[in-house]
This record gives sequence, structure tokens and C-alpha cells, in this order.
Amino acid sequence: MTYQLYSQLIWGWILVAIVAFLYLLRQNAPYGRHMQPGWGPTLDNRLGWFLMEFPVIVVFLTALFWDGRGISPQVALFSGCFLLHYINRSIVFPLRLRTRGKRMPWAIVFSAIGFNLVNGFSLGYYFGHFAAYSDVWWTDVRFISGLVLFCAGMAINWQADNILIHLRKPGTTDYVIPVGGLFGKISCPNLFGEILEWTGYALMTWCLPGLAFAIWTAANLLPRAMAHHRWYQSKFEDYPADRKAVIPFLW
Ligand SMILES: NC(=O)c1ccc[n+]([C@@H]2O[C@H](COP(=O)([O-])OP(=O)(O)OC[C@H]3O[C@@H](n4cnc5c(N)ncnc54)[C@H](OP(=O)(O)O)[C@@H]3O)[C@@H](O)[C@H]2O)c1
Repeated sequence: MTYQLYSQLIWGWILVAIVAFLYLLRQNAPYGRHMQPGWGPTLDNRLGWFLMEFPVIVVFLTALFWDGRGISPQVALFSGCFLLHYINRSIVFPLRLRTRGKRMPWAIVFSAIGFNLVNGFSLGYYFGHFAAYSDVWWTDVRFISGLVLFCAGMAINWQADNILIHLRKPGTTDYVIPVGGLFGKISCPNLFGEILEWTGYALMTWCLPGLAFAIWTAANLLPRAMAHHRWYQSKFEDYPADRKAVIPFLW
């Protein structure tokens, strides 16, 4: 595939993200607290997370090494960051969740697999075929600031996931008002951290599929964070009034 064709496809994918964002503003993705009937057959929530997230690892590595070319140290670092995130999300995170007995629709699983496969393929293919980073990239301000943002985002995301998981006593599935970490400022630090993470990744990799992935992440998670925030405000009368939805002090 030529880079011209590849980049046209990625720009098309970015347009789809904008459409998805507009759709998700009106329709909450029906899993977790927003689960609703009418979305067809369901499966165990934790199995759903594994099936949604694990294929991206296989597709990313296949696309990366398809031609048997070696990879540069920069691409090795970017691939390591990507894989670290997805090993946590597909294996560690579902094993830790306290959602026993909860289910999610297969429709969510299939749509997430589609989203993940396109993103994993587009990044792996770019790194394996088109990427050309020179040694000066290590000292480039885009690389350094992107790496800092990526690490900060991942730390915030992992800390918030950890707080949320431990809110429940084992065997229970009810909801409480989260406290600790960035929960003092926003309702959804896990989603804020994830958006920060992939924004940093786009910056440090400085490539079109990285940008597309960051846009897709925001398109998925900003509407979800707004829906979570409204849900907290309607469910808990004593919900902290100064807590924003997803961006500290702003929104
Ligand atoms: N890159 C992307 O596009 C993308 C898309 C989706 C998700 N993600 C990531 O995947 C992770 C999970 O996302 P999510 O949307 O499922 O997050 P979430 O709705 O905040 O839920 C995370 C976990 O914490 C539990 N939980 C949340 N709030 C709780 C509360 N107040 N009291 C007790 N338990 C609570 C949830 O239980 P229930 O399941 O029972 O609600 C769930 O097990 C996040 O880190 C997110 O960033 C990324």
C-alpha cells in the first residue's frame, strides 16, 4: 500500500470518529452503569473486556512485523508503550474487576473489536512500513513532551481504575461516590487519564495513525464522561457540587 492511499484511509477513519462522537453524545454506550435492555444477546462483563481488547495485540504485532523488517529503537519504545497499555487493559484489568454477575451486550464487544482492530492495524502498519525516526527525535520537544504526557496519563488512568475497583467490597456491585486522587476535582479521572495518554502518544509518535487514535479516544470517552457525571449528579444528592466532569477546573 502506498503512503498516499494509507493516509487517505486514515483521514476517512478520522471522519468516522467525528460521526461516532456526535452519535455518542445522544446515545450512551450501553455497558457498565449505562447498560440497557434492547441491545441483543449479552455475555459476562469480564470476558467481554478480554475479547474486546486482546485482539489488538495480535493485530498490532502482525502488522508491525508482516514484512520481516527490523524496527528502530524509537519504534520499539512506541510499540512497548502500546503493548503495555493493552496487556493491562485486556488481561490485568478484567481479572481485577469487581463486576461478577454483570453482563455487557455482544454488540458493544463487536464494535469495540472493530475499533481496536483498525487502530492496532493502522499503528502497527505505520511503524512497520513508513516510520523513519532519526536519532535527533530523542531530543525533540514533541517526543519529550509527548512521552511525559503519555506516562502522566497512564499513571492517572491506572490510579483511577485502581480506586474505582476498590470502591466495592468483593461480591458487591453497587455504586458509591469515589474519593481520592483526581476524583476530588473530576468525576472521571480514568477517562481523563486515558485521553491524556493517547494525546501524548500522538505527540511523541508524531504520525497520522497516532492522531487518529487520540481523536477516537476523545470521541469515545468525552461523551461517556459527561454521561457518568450527569448520572452521579442525579443518583447522589450529596454529590460534590464543585466536581467537574472530565477536565480539572474546566469541564
Ligand atoms: N480508549 C478508549 O477508547 C476506551 C474506551 C472505553 C474505555 N476505556 C478505558 O477502559 C477503562 C474502563 O472504562 P469504563 O468506561 O468501563 O469505566 P467506568 O464506567 O468508570 O468503570 C470502571 C470500573 O469501575 C467500576 N465503577 C465505576 N464507578 C464506580 C462507582 N462509583 N462505584 C463502584 N464501582 C464503580 C465499574 O463498574 P460497572 O462496570 O459495574 O459500572 C467498572 O468495573 C477506563 O480506564 C477507560 O479509560 C478506553
